[in-house]
Amino acid sequence: MREARRMMLKSGAAAVALPLVTAVARGAEPVAPLPVAVIGPGGMGRSHLEHLARRDDVRVAWVCDVDADRLAAAKSLVVEAGHDEPQGSADLRDVLADKDVKAVWIATPDHWHGPAAILAADAGKHVYVEKPACHNFREGRLMVEAARRNRIAMQVGTQARSAPMIRRAIDKLRAGAIGEVIVAKAWNSQRRGSIGKEKPSDPPASLAYDQWVGPAAWQPYQKNLLPGVWRFWRNFGCGDIGNDGVHEIDIARFGLGVDEHPDRVAGLGGKYFFDDDQEFPDTQVCVWEWPGAGGSTKRRQLVFEQRDWSPYVQEGHENGNAFYGTKGMLTLGKRTGWQLYSERNKLIDEEVGSVDLIAHHDDFLDSVRTAIAGGEPRRTHADIEEGHRSAALVHLGNIACRLARTLHFDAAAERIIGDDEAQALLTRAYRAGHWAVPRGV
Ligand SMILES: NC(=O)c1ccc[n+]([C@@H]2O[C@H](COP(=O)([O-])OP(=O)(O)OC[C@H]3O[C@@H](n4cnc5c(N)ncnc54)[C@H](O)[C@@H]3O)[C@@H](O)[C@H]2O)c1
Repeated sequence: MREARRMMLKSGAAAVALPLVTAVARGAEPVAPLPVAVIGPGGMGRSHLEHLARRDDVRVAWVCDVDADRLAAAKSLVVEAGHDEPQGSADLRDVLADKDVKAVWIATPDHWHGPAAILAADAGKHVYVEKPACHNFREGRLMVEAARRNRIAMQVGTQARSAPMIRRAIDKLRAGAIGEVIVAKAWNSQRRGSIGKEKPSDPPASLAYDQWVGPAAWQPYQKNLLPGVWRFWRNFGCGDIGNDGVHEIDIARFGLGVDEHPDRVAGLGGKYFFDDDQEFPDTQVCVWEWPGAGGSTKRRQLVFEQRDWSPYVQEGHENGNAFYGTKGMLTLGKRTGWQLYSERNKLIDEEVGSVDLIAHHDDFLDSVRTAIAGGEPRRTHADIEEGHRSAALVHLGNIACRLARTLHFDAAAERIIGDDEAQALLTRAYRAGHWAVPRGV
């Protein structure tokens, strides 16, 4: 079917056969479909694949999954969307070795984000990597360095950054609609289920579990690691604060207008509700503070609240944000919209809207095309530096909660001051000698 849509386009000196693209429908110059790959087309990766398979300006050349069933399903999805069957592998190195592939989507569990993204960048691929950007603080910095030294675009999957509704709310804040924003609040308040208690057992026959663990410290398989449950295990995930929480934390940091790391971090929390195997708090409050930013000398504060046992929404939004200014307040839900209140709580403006994954893909692909055309890749809306800074809040908040003490942070040096135990938690234990362990961790 794709063959039927081929047309002749000029590319440099040679005329080559290339498919028609949606750019034509948008009135833009036709462009050759970009060969891309999806690594980890499981839950969120499958959503990416569905969107990518609907686009005419990309061609899904590879799908890669360590689970043979998911790999087969991913191939079928592309074929059912009317395209040629993509190549498939359980080993991401096969994808990275293909010189044709220009960009990769990485939607693996968190422990693979940094290692896979760094390998992809060093193979010259542009990278869209899911949130949280990295499993631990140190990997975030190494990802930024890998993006810059290879001059590639690296977009993090906090898609709210590209939603017009959210960007308009942030514009209001920047324009002073609620005065000076001194405090922002982000919350993750929802009812989750227990992950139960399990003992090690044999992995499913379809799963190459050794490859799934990859560079993480070895841990035997057990049923409540998959699917998706790994996020509640320290070896593989970052807890719900790094899962749903990081979306809101990223929006809050965006609205607060702080581009640096905080200099002080506090946190308290624990498993106050669930009695199961999960290793992260179900109840958590973190506070990060910055010295004056954006020309202001006032300190700023971001507060995060998490209650994974709440069968009700909080302040009008299940997961949400509030921005507290000296002249008003703005509340925001990324799937609902925002409300702007002046002094004495008068509602003066509002908008209904939601996040926009396609816009986030568009933003990334636009930067990729700029780079391929020979330019410096434009920093995307959720460039890896932004992703690292928001993931850093997750990691520092988790460390503060785990150790139950306030951290003092040297933002420029990316070091925790006077606390060796906390400093050691900025990185992780890796599987010795594994090919995907990033250099410099
Ligand atoms: N942006 C969003 O709104 C959003 C929503 C949900 C999940 N996510 C993120 O997407 C990522 C995946 O989450 P999920 O819930 O889909 O998890 P999942 O466990 O359902 O899917 C992950 C997939 O990656 C595969 N995988 C693991 N290691 C691999 C490797 N080395 N190479 C290739 N494939 C590998 C797994 O087999 C699985 O199919 C996480 O980082 C999560 O935070 C983002």
